Amino acid sequence: MTDLLTAPTDYRGLHTAHAFDAMSDDYYRDPARHVAAVRDEHPVFWYPWLNAWIVTKREDILKVLGDWTEFSSSGNTATIEVPESYQKIVPPGLMAQLIVGMDPEDHTVHRNIALRGFTKARMESLRPQIEERAHRIIDKIEHQGSANIMAEYCIELTTQTILAHLGLGYEYDELMRRLRRDMGRVLSSAQEEMPQEMVDEVWDRFSSAFAEMSQVVAARRANPGTDFISEMAVQRDADGQYVLSVAQVAIKVCEFAMAGTDSTAQAMTNAILFLSAKPQYIDEAIEDPTLWANVFEETIRRRPSSPFASRKAMHDLELSGVQIKKGDMVWVSLASANTDPAHHADAWDFDIHRENPRDHLAFTQGRHTCLGQELARVQGATGLKVLFERLPSLRPAPDFPLEFIKMALLPVRTNLPVTWDVDDIEKSKKNVKREMNLTLVGKDAAADGVVALQLAHPDGDSLPEWQPGAHVDLAVPVDGGVVIRQYSLSSSPADRGRWRLGVLRETNGRGGSEAVHDRLQEGDSVRVGWPRNNFRFTPSPRYVFVAGGIGITPILPMIEHAEASGAEWELHYGGRSRSSMAFMEELARYGDRVHLVPGDEMGHPDLEGIFSEVVAGTLVYACGPEPLLKALEAALEHWPEDTLHTERFAPKKIERSGDDEEFEVEFATSGRTVRVPVGVSILEVAEKEGITAISSCREGTCGTCEMRILAGQADHRDSILTSSEQQANESMMICVSRAAGSCPRLVLDA
Ligand code: FES
Repeated sequence: MTDLLTAPTDYRGLHTAHAFDAMSDDYYRDPARHVAAVRDEHPVFWYPWLNAWIVTKREDILKVLGDWTEFSSSGNTATIEVPESYQKIVPPGLMAQLIVGMDPEDHTVHRNIALRGFTKARMESLRPQIEERAHRIIDKIEHQGSANIMAEYCIELTTQTILAHLGLGYEYDELMRRLRRDMGRVLSSAQEEMPQEMVDEVWDRFSSAFAEMSQVVAARRANPGTDFISEMAVQRDADGQYVLSVAQVAIKVCEFAMAGTDSTAQAMTNAILFLSAKPQYIDEAIEDPTLWANVFEETIRRRPSSPFASRKAMHDLELSGVQIKKGDMVWVSLASANTDPAHHADAWDFDIHRENPRDHLAFTQGRHTCLGQELARVQGATGLKVLFERLPSLRPAPDFPLEFIKMALLPVRTNLPVTWDVDDIEKSKKNVKREMNLTLVGKDAAADGVVALQLAHPDGDSLPEWQPGAHVDLAVPVDGGVVIRQYSLSSSPADRGRWRLGVLRETNGRGGSEAVHDRLQEGDSVRVGWPRNNFRFTPSPRYVFVAGGIGITPILPMIEHAEASGAEWELHYGGRSRSSMAFMEELARYGDRVHLVPGDEMGHPDLEGIFSEVVAGTLVYACGPEPLLKALEAALEHWPEDTLHTERFAPKKIERSGDDEEFEVEFATSGRTVRVPVGVSILEVAEKEGITAISSCREGTCGTCEMRILAGQADHRDSILTSSEQQANESMMICVSRAAGSCPRLVLDA
């Protein structure tokens, strides 16, 4: 407990709430409940630890936040003096120019510049990148089964996002973390008594990080990019003068480093704790992802990441009958306002279905409303969505210790150990459609009518791993929207910096490939799915590859792999003419293992001759137009059943006897049973019923909609599964396949 003997003996001592101790575990465990215990008796009370008033009632708090002429923010940072020995690096008076410590008119100028970087539309546009980043972080930890989720996911995600938003590469990661930590200590030094050696240490660290950031800002001013630091650095007023000095921009970045990372990370860990008590909400939000926004809002209502905000009284005044003197510091309890029963029904209940989920003061109110709130909302909701979609069984570890940086009133959680079932990894692959924005960094002709697209990550980050045979979904802009098309990865899987796709212009196609050729330009940002692989390449001592036209694309990485593994291999590559056959230069290095068959010179490949004799241990991988694959199936009829592996450009023609029938499907996980009428796919019914099912091609060629069969026999109509996979009946493509049998019924794992 606070040593109350140090409490002032003037009138303030009469209003001390002895049960309130913001350095106690009870406070750290649940700030709102700790304040509520004294709220009725002491709506406004003196807290000797900080020499400040604490205000607990929502009505009073709104008065404080709403009137900057009575309650100024200048007391927050104006008292922070830069020690003389650091004033060459951190100009004296700079701390008073932190947005959190300014009043109008300066506040208006500085806030308006900072606000440009955090508008709702701009933050919304970051959502896909945040989602992709979240997936990448989980890729690294999913096999662990446990983690300190605060450090390994929440802080990692928010730090990477703010780095990217500020246009700072990963090489600044360490600097960003130092700024976050040391800025917090500098700010708390304004409110707390610290021993001199600690003050020296704080300033030593902070000034060196600040100096580095100032250099970055100066460099951006001299040579601006499109990033947000450059935007702030080059703003000029009507007289052509820079609006902000280099140091003023640098101090803003320090504020963003702290506020833009830690508070959202705190909120995500708090959400994990609340959700662990109501796991039904996890299932609900996985089913309806729009609910993640409510999870986030309800979390910060019940436990704001910053549970207090501070102001300085500018006049003698009264709050709830308590006299406050000019110059007194006033701390308002946002956690208390958000659980004030006079305003919130069932205030202690964590309820994600509240009518107005944004009705809270977690982002404060008035002139100092959190300017990063839209980033927090997008990032918090997206981070939670991806986390639980990928690891739905994630829960806090039992009996985890309470670990906080104990700053009075503003606790910073440093640790939340969690565990999850590693079986989640397989389950989530089935349910989560993963996408990212890549930049088109190259577009070159690879043959007549064929372009090679080079894609790279905009942050320069590594691209996801993939294996030969993989393809990606590409969102191609067309009139009135986008169409999704699948293209094989044709580069080397070892190259994690770039992906290459080969795209043939199909003049009689559905418009996707023409849009790739005619509309996509170098520098464009393109939405690309995570690699999927239905054309899996398995180890073998001998391969025969057969490619027709653009079907060479998935074969190229297979050849590279076969060559590297020392396997025996040969390629038979047919096309209309040499000029229409792509990637010929690349193939030239393999010499006579490559058999080119330009149709105008040599006709069709002699498949009967190539496969006349069965060679044990051979696998045949083929991709090309339907007539080529049909001829190949015929040529391999006398070979072992699983020799041939194909990838088709278009759905295979399925010959069926009899008419389709209506049938029943039970979705076991969601506990729903539905009828699938004639002419309607299982996928369409699932989507209508709100059952999680992802899809892409919707014609049985991409494998996205694959679902595990728990009972029943499928009538397989896809172009992906081999005949033995279809016979095994373990999974099915629900966009085309149906139930088989005279009394058809299927039970699926969804
Ligand atoms: Fe492509 Fe079903 S959505 S196979």
